[in-house]
Amino acid sequence: MKILAVNSSPRTGSLSKTEIMLKHLVNGMREAGAEVEVTELRKKTIHNCIGCYTCWTKTPGVCIHKDDMSRELYPKWLESDLVVYATPLYHFLMNAAMKTFIERTFPVLQPFVITRGERTYHPMRKKHPRMVILSVAGFPEMSVFDELSHWANSVYGKHGLVVAQIYRPMAEALLVPSLAKKAKEVFEATTQAGREIVTNMAVSGETMERITQPIVKNMALSLNMTNLMWKTCIAEGVTPKEFEEKGLIPRPDSVKTFMIILSMGFKPEASSGVKASIQFNLSGDEGGSCHFRIENGKIEAVSGPAEKPDLTIDSPFDLWMDIITGKADGEQMFMKQRYKASGDLSLLTRMNRFFGK
Ligand SMILES: Cc1cc2nc3c(=O)[nH]c(=O)nc-3n(C[C@H](O)[C@H](O)[C@H](O)COP(=O)(O)O)c2cc1C
Repeated sequence: MKILAVNSSPRTGSLSKTEIMLKHLVNGMREAGAEVEVTELRKKTIHNCIGCYTCWTKTPGVCIHKDDMSRELYPKWLESDLVVYATPLYHFLMNAAMKTFIERTFPVLQPFVITRGERTYHPMRKKHPRMVILSVAGFPEMSVFDELSHWANSVYGKHGLVVAQIYRPMAEALLVPSLAKKAKEVFEATTQAGREIVTNMAVSGETMERITQPIVKNMALSLNMTNLMWKTCIAEGVTPKEFEEKGLIPRPDSVKTFMIILSMGFKPEASSGVKASIQFNLSGDEGGSCHFRIENGKIEAVSGPAEKPDLTIDSPFDLWMDIITGKADGEQMFMKQRYKASGDLSLLTRMNRFFGK
């Protein structure tokens, strides 16, 4: 089986969840024996269809444009048994690059109009390849794909051309380290979908369920973290790509989010054998008290003061957030008495080890 996989994401690498999902799908297709070529539209020059109908009249089946679509991709598309349309969900549909590509498959149609039942259609000039639609979205609900799915079913599904539709919501969370276990299941299921498509020309319900499964347990917390990430991007004047490259972490904006983020950065392996309670009294508008109980490589964040803290830190809220986000040096700030620490000060010096990024 010859497959052309068309990726329309403008992003690449760890940023592009379309690319990551497509890689897994293609791996499965190749494992099952298909010959798959992947093409990235961001590297191609494909002009918009200008509606001149030259491909229907003067040069039947041949587009007026001389670009990567006419020269390379359209002939490959025609020769394929199956095409994968892999697109990020933009404004609840495929993105513009994918739409441009699909519009440029117009020469496959003949101009004549035929009616079948209540529908009017154009007969094909050549065999239209069957298709798989793969899309990823930022929002968590499956319903975000309703419009794309409706479009695919009504344009191609009625002609029996849609082999599978693979949709992954909340795709931006797929590379979050704390969700790696669930993400792995999604990726493995996507590879399995690739195998099933080549073998059975369909994806089983079970595989589809594994691909679309919820990957976060606490949605409110996850959305909270997403918003903090965006707030940090705005405050630092960086894009998500630069946020990732610079190794930034979301800056807590309240005692509650501080408790969550510090706990997320806890390194169990660096604190085995440690039993301690560390209390923070954070001053300022967003301030308040909380404490962390560390025991047996585990951490628990608790609101309010501890009964008997081993270490107490009194700091302006903003200063401590500067320290945990790497904008201020904890040791220097202590020397300059910008915050106070009392109790077991060896815990203070070891804090860098207990908490990573
Ligand atoms: C212009 C634009 C429009 C978007 N529209 C939607 C949308 O309608 N629904 C949604 O859930 N996510 C939307 N997103 C989020 C993307 O679908 C999400 O970030 C996805 O991971 C992008 O694919 P990529 O990782 O391959 O770039 C949009 C993103 C952009 C840049």
